[in-house]
Amino acid sequence: MNLPNYQEAKTRDERSYKRVNFEFDTKIKNKYKGKKFYLKTYGCQMNEHDSENIEALLCNLGFSKVDDYNDADLVLLNTCSIRENAHNKAFGMLGRIKHLKSEKKDLIVGLCGCMAQEASVVDEIMRDYKFVNFVFGTHNMYQLPNILDKAIKENRQEIEVFSREGDLVEGLPVVRANKYKAYVNIIYGCNKFCTYCIVPYTRGKERSRLKEDILKEVDELIQDGYKEITLLGQNVNAYGKDLYDDYTLGNLLEDIAKKDIPRIRFMTSHPWDFTDSMIEVLGKYPNIMPSVHLPVQSGSNRILKLMGRRYTKESYLELFNKIKKTVPNVAISTDIIVGFPGETEEDFQETLDLVETCKYDNAFTFIFSKREGTPACKLKDDVSLEEKEERLQRLNEVVNKYFLENNKKLEGKEVLVLVEGVSEKKKMYFGYSDTNKLINFSSNRDLEVGSIVKVKITSAKTWSLDGEEVE
Ligand code: SAH
Ligand code: SF4
Ligand code: F3S
Repeated sequence: MNLPNYQEAKTRDERSYKRVNFEFDTKIKNKYKGKKFYLKTYGCQMNEHDSENIEALLCNLGFSKVDDYNDADLVLLNTCSIRENAHNKAFGMLGRIKHLKSEKKDLIVGLCGCMAQEASVVDEIMRDYKFVNFVFGTHNMYQLPNILDKAIKENRQEIEVFSREGDLVEGLPVVRANKYKAYVNIIYGCNKFCTYCIVPYTRGKERSRLKEDILKEVDELIQDGYKEITLLGQNVNAYGKDLYDDYTLGNLLEDIAKKDIPRIRFMTSHPWDFTDSMIEVLGKYPNIMPSVHLPVQSGSNRILKLMGRRYTKESYLELFNKIKKTVPNVAISTDIIVGFPGETEEDFQETLDLVETCKYDNAFTFIFSKREGTPACKLKDDVSLEEKEERLQRLNEVVNKYFLENNKKLEGKEVLVLVEGVSEKKKMYFGYSDTNKLINFSSNRDLEVGSIVKVKITSAKTWSLDGEEVE
């Protein structure tokens, strides 16, 4: 048994990582043939991509996937810790599974992902959720086959969570959820330690993958017919810093952009690490999509400082304007937290003012949520829930106004759309534009999913646009 420990999880030192190539033990291939698994994923794209690896591991073991947990022999929850409601969702699901397990004694239940890295969660699982057969964390996903085996054989709760990162594992099998759009991890972990955020504890130290490994994966995706790749990391702009003297995200983007891949995206960018040379690369290559997620969190310098964000409103705006000027037709999206401890009405007003200035194309807005073990958890949370909710609502009204206003500007214009699907009934297609906007459109021809077509926008809504294909 290995239990999580926050003290260790926040350690950052100069250890170098062994890079190991995962090999699936052929002796256990199809060991569970005929068994079915249900995998539920919470949280961000990183978790979604981890689930693609978990699914592949389970398929190699002979499991097949089901969409209803009532039909499953194995239920696995890949969890998220970012806000309290993510926790609540996973625990709510565990409650339902407990009920199922009381009827289906052989059901195997597992929990993994970011919540598994939290000591308090694991304590709770050991105390109140004894029916959970196994728990593993974000650093030892590759051990799933052994952990599962042990949990079944030894018939006791198996908890294997590493607080510190181990080796950097390459070559995990993957079952991708989409045939045309793929996620590619470029950097794991986060060193920023924003005071409200749990990710540096649950995902560990920043570790970049070797550029050769990334470029090889991209080549394979191109060979397999993928049209869009999204480079993933909690802070992709820190890519390479731990490995190279002079190879950054800008260089990586450039090397990928020279390949025959129509669409490249990346997320998420921390404003602190955004360099001029990266911005130039974004402006230079048409296959790097003009869409940048640039989380601001707050428009008040006082709050930004308390959040440990390492930039001011002024330096953020300077960066924002540079990106807008250098990258043609770029759409910028953001994340904002309201109700951070000590946020006054004036601070909040500054956030609203910043949104009025930036007129974001998209924004994810959140109420501050206390995360145990983070520095902000110790601050006096003096904004009432009522006030937080009211601020969120006021903020959403302003951000929504600009979503619509930006979308309206596209009316009458032509945009390129990667076709993702068709609703048979009305023969309407849908897909995303280069700036990542959802487009519903009609066409006179039969279009193939995965093709990129030109669509003329006929009408704009707040969260989507309507159009028709122009041949
Ligand atoms: N690495 C990304 C953010 C990942 S988390 C970045 O720094 O840009 C996604 C978003 O969740 C954050 O940008 C933040 O707005 C929000 N978030 C993180 N911790 C939170 C907390 N404790 N309460 C409320 N929102 C939070
Ligand atoms: Fe969290 Fe900040 Fe790291 Fe983003 S940069 S994952 S908000 S600590
Ligand atoms: Fe959640 Fe972990 Fe992602 S906390 S947002 S799943 S990195």
